[in-house]
Amino acid sequence: MRKIYFLKNLAQTEKMAKDIVGLLRGGEILALVGDLGSGKTTFTQFLAKELGVKENVTSPTFVLMKKYKIEKLRKQKNKKIKRYLYHLDAYRLSSPDEALDLGLEEIWSDPKNITVIEWADRIADILPEKRIEIAFSLEKERKVMVNF
Ligand SMILES: Nc1ncnc2c1ncn2[C@@H]1O[C@H](COP(=O)(O)OP(=O)(O)O)[C@@H](O)[C@H]1O
Ligand SMILES: [Mg+2]
Repeated sequence: MRKIYFLKNLAQTEKMAKDIVGLLRGGEILALVGDLGSGKTTFTQFLAKELGVKENVTSPTFVLMKKYKIEKLRKQKNKKIKRYLYHLDAYRLSSPDEALDLGLEEIWSDPKNITVIEWADRIADILPEKRIEIAFSLEKERKVMVNF
């Protein structure tokens, strides 16, 4: 399925994040692509908010990957399971191998986790085919294509 969004303001990014959280059950990979400033981190912040993450989500550029506790996921069956949002910025990875060294395969194959990867095209070679691809573009307007 494919869906296109035109984001005129932050409220519309928030709405899109809500739509996408509605698709999630746990175990998904969200592959975000798009240039610097196209809105990837902003989207991730709204996604985290919608998942009930209490901490402030900041760009993981300097630590490569951050982990947050998910407090709510509507469709989850067992509410007692501890779920985590992992937020990775692949921009500064020198190679896909470095992503594997971070333990990414184990993280994204666990249905307890939701993994968001900014600059996912940098590690396209190792990304599982089953993923939600979200392409941000910023030309005359902010346009986002979601493939899931
Ligand atoms: N839908 C939007 N409407 C207006 N400004 C936005 C929107 N989405 C993001 N921005 C702004 O664009 C800037 C860059 O966004 P950011 O999410 O950091 O981009 P990226 O992570 O892709 O580099 C930020 O100042 C952010 O507030
Ligand atoms: Mg960013």
